[in-house]
Amino acid sequence: MISRNDPCWCGSAKKWKKCHYPEQKPLSSFEEKALFYKKKYDILLKTPEQIEGIRASCKLAATILDELCNYAKEGVTTLEIDRLARKLTKEAGAISATVGYGDPPFPAAICTSLNEVICHGIPDDRPLQNGDIMNIDYTSILNGYFGDCSRMVVIGEISEEKKLVVDVAQKCLYAAIDRVKPGVMVYEVGDAIEEVAARYGCSVVYQFVAHGVGVAFHEEPQICHHKNNMRIPFEEGMTFTIEPMINAGMKEGVIDKKDGWTARTVDGRASAQWEHTLLVTKEGVEILTQK
Ligand code: MF3
Ligand code: CO
Ligand code: CO
Repeated sequence: MISRNDPCWCGSAKKWKKCHYPEQKPLSSFEEKALFYKKKYDILLKTPEQIEGIRASCKLAATILDELCNYAKEGVTTLEIDRLARKLTKEAGAISATVGYGDPPFPAAICTSLNEVICHGIPDDRPLQNGDIMNIDYTSILNGYFGDCSRMVVIGEISEEKKLVVDVAQKCLYAAIDRVKPGVMVYEVGDAIEEVAARYGCSVVYQFVAHGVGVAFHEEPQICHHKNNMRIPFEEGMTFTIEPMINAGMKEGVIDKKDGWTARTVDGRASAQWEHTLLVTKEGVEILTQK
């Protein structure tokens, strides 16, 4: 058996490793990577055509969310905001991803999560009040492609504690986004978020996760916002969300037994969340859910 430092078999008098030694396998093609990610992780790397579709849906979702946030004022009910979400969705030739989703079927085109609600709040007839904080989470389906995003809205004068969670949750989202590029492990999202939350004395919700999104609402991988050991490297063509939920007090939440959706902090203290849909690019990451 010829070894790397032996003379090459071709008679050049050079070492084999400097001559006809077989080259390292070239970087695999998109097709090979896509097959590997599908088989090993059940993750779908998107084609340029799918990316165009997802980009358009995300742009629409961001535009609609903008209008919803501007409309959310003291005295307006969350049901009225939901009605506007449905109208704008229809006018854009899109479909809501959340109406009828899950079990029990979610009844609205947005989640409206106020104050101590962590996520999945259901719109109702309570008018927004001075001092409320609210997350609006909106997901569109445009030409079969999904765009998922959420933001916080502040009504009038809010407490220091509410101001803190709103700001910290947003800092967490952007700190996590900053880490994303090909080759970085998915668990780094959790590292980044825990670091920021801890710095401000806030806690990170672990009962709800971020997710692949694009050709379906909730795809692989599940991405935890807390410390974890998910050793999957980000790869070009992955589309997914980051959506940290940050609590002022304890990290634990409880789901409402009656509606099967509304998740509230166990201690009743404030919670906040911000969400973007992202695309891993050759160099880094693109935020898809902005106008
Ligand atoms: N948009 C949420 C997410 O970020 C999911 C809402 S599901 C619903 O994944 F049924 F509650 F609307
Ligand atoms: Co999401
Ligand atoms: Co969402």
